[in-house]
Amino acid sequence: MASPKSKILIFGATGYLGKYMVKASLSEGHPTFAYVRPIKPDADQSKLQLHEEFQSMGVTIFQADDEFEQGRLDEHEKLVMALKQVDVVISTLPVPQHLEQLKIIKAIKEAGNIKRFVPSEYGNEVDRASGLPPFEALLENKRKIRRATEAAGISYTYVSANAFSAYFIDYLLHPHENRDEVIVYGSGEAKSNFFSSTI
Ligand SMILES: NC(=O)c1ccc[n+]([C@@H]2O[C@H](COP(=O)([O-])OP(=O)(O)OC[C@H]3O[C@@H](n4cnc5c(N)ncnc54)[C@H](OP(=O)(O)O)[C@@H]3O)[C@@H](O)[C@H]2O)c1
Repeated sequence: MASPKSKILIFGATGYLGKYMVKASLSEGHPTFAYVRPIKPDADQSKLQLHEEFQSMGVTIFQADDEFEQGRLDEHEKLVMALKQVDVVISTLPVPQHLEQLKIIKAIKEAGNIKRFVPSEYGNEVDRASGLPPFEALLENKRKIRRATEAAGISYTYVSANAFSAYFIDYLLHPHENRDEVIVYGSGEAKSNFFSSTI
């Protein structure tokens, strides 16, 4: 008899990468959960639609209480209760919120049942890469989350995907803008590989 599929909880599920994670988890047949921030009455309705879409696809949504002004991850007890219902935790929290994952790690440790934690990385291999100051700060936060995960004795997978070309080409290079010149940094001879995948 096939073993039951792991239950997967995703933080950042409504984000750029999180939406792919939700769809991938569902398509692999995993009971899928999303821990989301509450939607304020004046918020963009597209987020509400996304929650409804998730629910229609079978995603269980854990929603933070409104009174937690500083953000959902300050709700330690609620977080632990949610974690006790799942097996695997995937975080796709955005860069400014990377250190918020320390609260997830604390709650995972307390819950004691999580088989694997995938922190929000999906970029450079941070223990081998270094960068100029603003980028180095980002790498350092990811390293802090790695070290805290290891110190807590949590099983983990670190995903180093380098750059998502669709994201960087669109958001950083702005290929649809008209321009007369393009600046190529370095010698212009650096090699890169492009991979494509669809979910
Ligand atoms: N390698 C690459 O090329 C590449 C490219 C893009 C991203 N990434 C990595 O992928 C990870 C996810 O990035 P992303 O771009 O997918 O993130 P994102 O779209 O900016 O945000 C993800 C989600 O995080 C949640 N969130 C929680 N607290 C938040 C706050 N205070 N402000 C805003 N959002 C908050 C939101 O979901 P709720 O409102 O539902 O809570 C949001 O939808 C990051 O680690 C990033 O470094 C890598």
